[in-house]
Amino acid sequence: MSQITVNLKVWRQASPGDAGRLVDYRVDGISRDMSFLEMLDVVNDGLIRKGDEPIAFDSDCREGICGACGMMIDGIPHGPNRATTTCQLHMRHFRDGQTVTIEPFRARAFPVLRDLIVDRAALDQIIESGGFISANTGSAPEANMIPIPKPVQELSMDAAECIGCGACVAACPNGSAMLFTGAKVTHLGLLPQGQPERLRRVGVMVARMDLEGFGGCTNFGECHEACPKEISIDTITRMNRDFLRAGLPSGRAAVAQSD
Ligand code: SF4
Ligand code: FES
Repeated sequence: MSQITVNLKVWRQASPGDAGRLVDYRVDGISRDMSFLEMLDVVNDGLIRKGDEPIAFDSDCREGICGACGMMIDGIPHGPNRATTTCQLHMRHFRDGQTVTIEPFRARAFPVLRDLIVDRAALDQIIESGGFISANTGSAPEANMIPIPKPVQELSMDAAECIGCGACVAACPNGSAMLFTGAKVTHLGLLPQGQPERLRRVGVMVARMDLEGFGGCTNFGECHEACPKEISIDTITRMNRDFLRAGLPSGRAAVAQSD
């Protein structure tokens, strides 16, 4: 069967202050080759033709790199497939006649703006607090001047794969952003360019994480399971280690020097 019918239960919420509710939609003639977002486009075409409000959802690249398209599909961030963003999830993974519940990410730090769209600016605030290196401007230095061992470079680049989607936060019973923050701290903290601010960075990013209302980590591991980029939970260990070092007298001296 090349086409299927799905019965959707979609969270509709007109504004942040609205109570919101699940609304049923039956969608016929869905190609199995469509992505989940293309299926929602079809639903919205039908709603617009009837003069109804289309379902608001976020998307941009639609190829798994921007992190915009996160939503809960049957209670799982980005849906049932491992290491797959919502935009890369295809309808061939759903049965004909299946009921699918679609909700926004649920977390204290991610207020719902409308329907399936949440405000993920809190993640940007964490990045803004310390997710950078300071480098002198001017022409780019010769790349081979800073040799980086391949295993270190690979660990750093694996962490840099984080697309900031927030699925880790949505999956965590504590609404913690430790995997996201750990990925950023690891990415920069492993490279030579990230060393001067390494301990200062971890302190300010963790403080910002708390300030933005994210919860703490109690080792559920759901974040790693939900992550479409399979960011390793070791990044959290690495961040915790740097955070402890930053609190030691030698760490405090290093932080003072980098200020
Ligand atoms: S760690 Fe994974 S789940 Fe969390 S924001 Fe980054 S890519 Fe998304
Ligand atoms: S729309 Fe960019 S990751 Fe899905």
